[in-house]
Amino acid sequence: MGRLRNLISMEDLTREDIDLILDYSAKMESVAVKRSKELDGKIMACLFFEPSTRTRLSFESAMIRLGGSVLGFADVATSSAGGKGETLADTIRTVERYADVIVIRHNLDGSARVAAEFSRIPVINAGSGSEEHPTQALLDLYSIKKLKGKIDGMSISLCGDLKYGRTVHSLGMALAHYKVTVKLAAPPGLRMKPAIIGEMKKAGLHVTEVDTLEEAVKDVDVVYMTRIQKERFPDIREYDAVKGKFRLRLDEVRMMREDAIILHPLPRVDEIEPEVDKTPQAKYFDQVYNGVITRMAILKLILG
Ligand code: NCD
Repeated sequence: MGRLRNLISMEDLTREDIDLILDYSAKMESVAVKRSKELDGKIMACLFFEPSTRTRLSFESAMIRLGGSVLGFADVATSSAGGKGETLADTIRTVERYADVIVIRHNLDGSARVAAEFSRIPVINAGSGSEEHPTQALLDLYSIKKLKGKIDGMSISLCGDLKYGRTVHSLGMALAHYKVTVKLAAPPGLRMKPAIIGEMKKAGLHVTEVDTLEEAVKDVDVVYMTRIQKERFPDIREYDAVKGKFRLRLDEVRMMREDAIILHPLPRVDEIEPEVDKTPQAKYFDQVYNGVITRMAILKLILG
């Protein structure tokens, strides 16, 4: 990979690139605790056109732990893009003059790629519509490796909104580089894009589609839950028809392997019952911290 320029899509990364980022992340564990000045003087601009808690704050925490500085608008409505109709291209042409790297989240598919085309500084995709969320996939892989010791050989169930969920799109593409078994479990109408299933199968992965959460949680190492992406549905009645369909309760956790783990990119709405949080399988809040670690590695590889 040499030096990483932009991070837009999982498509742009090879297995070697991904493994390098994961290995580099492991090195960041101690730096995250001690803090460092490695990115002293560097500035990261956050352009979040959509809501965020973890992605933005973990990117900011990562940059601050490396000694860098952060800037960004608090709310897109108060920016010129939101309030006055400024184009994305003009926003990028402006922000590239204020910072060394841009982290962008936008409601449109392809937005991060467009931003990178206009930008003279590196761009990191922090979520582009329902298309992709590559840094989330990297922290998900890192979480699997950290908690289970490896990725190759794992059996992984991706559950919930596989149609509009951008995290599972990036994760599915990334998993195609590993020797894993994948189960896909989605409510009717929210199945994984055929192109991504095709990519996984072409890579030789054993992929099955199941209809229930019960089938999804049995005999796997990782259960990856996702939120039904209400904001992406063109018609709210379609959302009402599927909401609450997949709900992980203690009953399902009892069907899981004892050493299996439950991951979730968060936020959760109702797809994981709060009593599941106390089970040894629940790892989604540990996963949150791995976002800081992985994003430190990404920022270092781009700016270091
Ligand atoms: C995800 C997203 O924004 O795509 N959140 C995150 O970044 N951790 C998942 C979601 O919103 O459901």
